[in-house]
Amino acid sequence: MNQVLVSAPSNIALIKYMGKIEGTGNKPTNGSLSYTLENLKTFVRLTEIAGSEDQWKPLVRDDLEKIELSEKGQQRFLKHLQNLKQKWGINQSFLVESANNFPSDCGLASSASSFAALTLAAAEMFQKLHPQPWGADKKVLSELSRQGSGSSCRSLFSPWALWQAEYAEPMSIPQTHLHHIVVVVEDSKKEVSSSEAHKLVTTSPRFTGRPERAELRLKDLVQALCWNDWHMARQIVWDEFMDMHRLFETSVPAFSYMTSGSKKVLEDCQGFWSKWQDGPLVTMDAGANVHMLFRNDQKKSFETYREHFKKDFKVLAFEGVKDNVH
Ligand code: PMV
Repeated sequence: MNQVLVSAPSNIALIKYMGKIEGTGNKPTNGSLSYTLENLKTFVRLTEIAGSEDQWKPLVRDDLEKIELSEKGQQRFLKHLQNLKQKWGINQSFLVESANNFPSDCGLASSASSFAALTLAAAEMFQKLHPQPWGADKKVLSELSRQGSGSSCRSLFSPWALWQAEYAEPMSIPQTHLHHIVVVVEDSKKEVSSSEAHKLVTTSPRFTGRPERAELRLKDLVQALCWNDWHMARQIVWDEFMDMHRLFETSVPAFSYMTSGSKKVLEDCQGFWSKWQDGPLVTMDAGANVHMLFRNDQKKSFETYREHFKKDFKVLAFEGVKDNVH
């Protein structure tokens, strides 16, 4: 039986992909930079089956969370497999089984990790069946993954990924093994999907100049991180997610993911920063949850934040492993 089991991590963008060039298979209107979340993973098992139709089923394993994919979600996932099969010239049919190692009821997007995992699983399987000279090239795989879900193209590289046009690439940044907190403010399904958000933001008057603002921040953030200027990095990352959320709020029609809970968490983060003049990089995706990334030497403050937010919210906290490599 031809079978492969592969996993891929999620990622959090610090400079956001928001807005795509129409008809290009998810090419972005600006470059983005992300940190790979090794603790949040999707597992995909691909099995060759008889018959002419691909199928999707949840992957059932004691250590993994069972996913429920909507009919539309299943079709989008299988369409990506279809595209990959076409690229490799594969005619066989497959059963795709997938699951996450993080709870599906916490409002954490899994499209990046799931599309990256499907791309990697297909590449492994198809290279056995019909090897292609480019079949193990990470840049090609990143480009293919992008066509399924934009942000997934960054999940192929760790710990930092830079995505500028067709594919993502690894980026060398001194800070690694960051500690990660997600304050789960809202765990229900989003009303506006990120695909819809990408379209709607172009109607905002603030979209004029948005690609330029994001590109400038990207350049400044890389420089700040490379110079170990954490204060500057934190300010850029904050301005960036606020810029994205203002686009949502000024779109026609306007929409918002910010809840009173998100605002409370952000206020507390500001308060802690003012008090200690230090703290995590804070960011939000197209959702209400708040992500925080702490440097390896900020372990104490990681614990303080975790305990503080645990009083009012569900908190997911992941320790980065101490980095001994200098
Ligand atoms: O890949 P998509 O279409 O789900 O878009 C993701 C968009 C954001 O998560 C909001 C930002 C990003 O760069 O990941």
